[in-house]
Amino acid sequence: MRHLLSTRDLSRDAAIELLDVAEDMADTQLREVKKLPTLRGKTVVNLFFEDSTRTRISFEAAAKRLSADVINFSAKGSSVSKGESLKDTAQTLQAMGADAVVIRHPASGAPQTLATSGWIDAGILNAGDGTHEHPTQALLDAYTIRKRVHGSASRGKDLDGLRVTLVGDVLHSRVARSNVWLLTTLGATVSLVSPPTLVPVNTTGWPVAIGYDLDEAIEGKPDVIMMLRIQAERMRDAFFPNSREYSKRWGLDDGRLGKLQATTIVMHPGPMNRGLEISAAAADSPQSTVREQVTNGVSVRMAALYLLLSGDREDA
Ligand code: NCD
Repeated sequence: MRHLLSTRDLSRDAAIELLDVAEDMADTQLREVKKLPTLRGKTVVNLFFEDSTRTRISFEAAAKRLSADVINFSAKGSSVSKGESLKDTAQTLQAMGADAVVIRHPASGAPQTLATSGWIDAGILNAGDGTHEHPTQALLDAYTIRKRVHGSASRGKDLDGLRVTLVGDVLHSRVARSNVWLLTTLGATVSLVSPPTLVPVNTTGWPVAIGYDLDEAIEGKPDVIMMLRIQAERMRDAFFPNSREYSKRWGLDDGRLGKLQATTIVMHPGPMNRGLEISAAAADSPQSTVREQVTNGVSVRMAALYLLLSGDREDA
């Protein structure tokens, strides 16, 4: 693998390989000494043009546990705020010898630009670009589902036959997009439930069923229900009357939590708006994988960095 830009172009085999390597990484994280020498001498740059807590520290932890040197670069306080272009920034990182660049950017397509521009030779990992994709989030979600369903026998397995419902602000969600492609590739059946105003304008070619009624979706007994954050920072218009109205119709509140099958997995990528798209009881219930998702994120990102930096690249 040269770059990790999206899940849309990820084959089933490549996805399963990554999840299996992530399991090996997770095993190493149970040891007392968590650090592996694998990426010693490699430099990983975290290039964040948008706020992030868990994704940035997750990539940082992943790179450090593989013994890479990590440089954290956030747009605030850098020359980017003085108007330096992505090209100049990339050329600076190239001059410093970056082996991998983890980029989060408000513009959809920025990681692709970096990967194809010729400005930099590093492997590019998309850590979220605008409303486009967030591949490592979808991979950690798939990993979490696979682990809950198959337990210790999950290596080599896909998500065949599982029914996953994504709920909420699909319009602005790169997490939703990456999950739609990846979970479908892995054999799951994906459906979307959201207010009509938060369904993307063009979903032609999306392998999903779209509905508007969360209670109806819950009656259908999904195996997984993934709540999406209301991305208020990306909203310039009013997409729903008010937050009370939203949570009444599309929130996973305590009443709906009680109607889920006991085996249904409740997911959220974080950060959560507790009381809006998900109640505190739902977020903290034994059915919730919110904290597992964060833990698994480190293993999945270790796998992604490993596959990008130690395989083909060294041979070449
Ligand atoms: C997601 C993101 O930034 O796209 N968060 C994350 O990476 N954990 C989801 C979100 O912000 O709602």
